[in-house]
Formats: sequence, C-alpha cells, structure tokens
Amino acid sequence: MGNENPQEGKAAGESSVALLSKKADPAEETSEFISLRPKSLKEYIGQAEVVEALSIAIEAALQRKEALDHILFHAPPGLGKTTLAHIIAEEMGVNMTVTSGPALEKGGDLLGILTHLEEGDILFIDEIHRLPRVVEEFLYPAMEDFAVDFIFDKGVHARSHRYRLARFVLVGATTRAGLLSAPLRERFGILRSLDFYSEEDLVLIAKRSAVLLNVEMNTDGAYEIARRSRGTPRIVNRLLKRVRDFAQVRGDGIIRKGTVCEALELEGVDEKGLTVLDRKFLKAIIDFYKGGPVGIEAIAATLQEESDTLVDVVEPYLLKIGFLTRTSSGRKISEETYRHFGLPIQQGLFR
Ligand code: ADE
Repeated sequence: MGNENPQEGKAAGESSVALLSKKADPAEETSEFISLRPKSLKEYIGQAEVVEALSIAIEAALQRKEALDHILFHAPPGLGKTTLAHIIAEEMGVNMTVTSGPALEKGGDLLGILTHLEEGDILFIDEIHRLPRVVEEFLYPAMEDFAVDFIFDKGVHARSHRYRLARFVLVGATTRAGLLSAPLRERFGILRSLDFYSEEDLVLIAKRSAVLLNVEMNTDGAYEIARRSRGTPRIVNRLLKRVRDFAQVRGDGIIRKGTVCEALELEGVDEKGLTVLDRKFLKAIIDFYKGGPVGIEAIAATLQEESDTLVDVVEPYLLKIGFLTRTSSGRKISEETYRHFGLPIQQGLFR
C-alpha cells in the first residue's frame, strides 16, 4: 500500500513540501526496490479511454512543441493517478515536482515551488481538494497567466511583486471531485475520472508484476489475486507481495489459487476482497443501525474512524459492488451484503 504516496522515498534533508523527482532513478531498480509502476502509456494496462486521450494530447503537444493543458484526475486511491502523472512527465521529457494539498499551507509555500519550475515541467498536486483556500486563489493566476502576485508585509508597508513563471503543467489528483471549487475545476483543460479495473485487467497487472518480481504464478493464482483486489492495481501489487512471501516460506514458491486463498485469509482479505475495515463498516450498519439508512458521521463515530477515510477508501468499492447504497437519508446496505455475511434478512427490510 502507499506506493503512490508523494512523500515516499524522500531523501533525508529534502523539503517536506515538495519532492523534486527527476527521471527514473536507477537505484530504484535494484533488487530491494523494484518499481511495479508502468513507465509508459504502452505498458499501462486498463483505463483505455483515458490512455488514448492522454496519448493524443501528448503527441499533439510534442508536435507543436507546446506544454500540455492542465490535467485533473479523479479516482479512489490506488487506481493510477500518480502513476499517470509520472508517465506524462516521462513521455513529455520534463521534470515533475510532487506535492499535496495539505502540505501547502500558504501562498509562499507554492511560490517557492512555482518559481523553480522550468518550461513544460509538471507540478503534481495530490489531494488537490484539500488545498487551503488562500493557496487555491494563489494558484488561479499561476494556472491562467503563468504569473503570480506576491504581497510582502502588511498594512502601509505592503508591497506587491509580480513573478513571471515558466509555462508549467499542473496535474491535480483528487478522490473527491465534488469538493473542488468551480473556479479551480474550470482551469483544467483535461478532466478524467479513472474507474475500478476489470478482473481481466487486474489479472494482466498481476501477471506483469509477477514477472517483474521474478515469481512463478499460474493463471488460477492470478485470477484469485485479481478477484480479491477491490478493482485496484495498488492492492494487486500489495497482495501479490504478501502471497509471494507465503509461497516462499510455506509452499514451493509457486503461486497457485490455494496459496492465494491461504495467504490472504491470514491478511484478513475475504473472497470478495473485503478487508477488516470494510467488514467492520458493513457490520456496524447492520448491528447498530439495522442496515440503515444512517449518516456517515454516525458510522465514523461508532467505528472511531475518520469519516474521510470511510468516504475515500472504504465506500467507493462497496458502492461499486452494490453492497452499499447512498440515499438522501444516509447509507444503506443491500440484501447482497446480508447474504455475503450469511445473515438472515429481516422480513420487510427490503420490500
Ligand atoms: N501496475 C500498477 N498499475 C498498473 C497498470 N495500470 N498497468 C500496468 N502495471 C501496473
């Protein structure tokens, strides 16, 4: 998990605000750390429409020798927003600076980053919906006019200075498109949502990663990992590493269906890919709220979890597989969920 965290892999002494990442670091490809991320759109599996739209935009910009339009990606965690940003930088042949909404507290934090960008460089802002309002307003002229006005001092001493910026490309990533203000959203030229991946695509991703990790896996094993990965490549790769450990220590090193089932039972991942937190979430609605409807804050209080985690991480997949519905009066679970848990369905609950 967390291999899309912009702060991950940060060298000592680097700013906590931004991580300057140049081209792929050869040290990343050692046996200790093998990047499972695709490095080009050709290698990228799934999200066919998004990949096609991006490849057209990249080719056109390269032909015209221009920078790309600003790009916004919207998707639940682990679906490839950061990976695509890295690929775009690679294919455009530019550098990318990575930061995130909560890391930027004031305009000055952004100023330092913006003034270091070169022509065509990418600024990647993860969790852009969590950008403080003052920083967001600072970003508007930067995105539109490639200039920022910075005000020094206060009151009668206030002085303003206009900084000209290189034509950079902002790539924003968000799990909550709805929380982005309209003025910010309107400044992006390319807006794309990534969907959960099909089982077939997850199988291909699992097989590709197994080759990179140099582990033998049969097709049934790949399908079992795919089925339990909540439609999410990052989870495929995480589970694959756990199953590889299990196969190595408890088996003959080869990943088969049985190995996956045994290894993932230990991880608390069930046949549908639901995790401990997914099950706690669904059980809380059943046990404390008779299946719903119930507000998200009440569920969060019951579980002592952040409601943001539930909304961003837990709910999207449960909604996708129909275990959960969201109504105007709150969250409700479905008949399917009761069946999954082998629970009796109360008369009149769903009719
Ligand atoms: N690894 C993680 N996501 C991937 C993707 N979409 N294609 C190929 N490999 C991946």
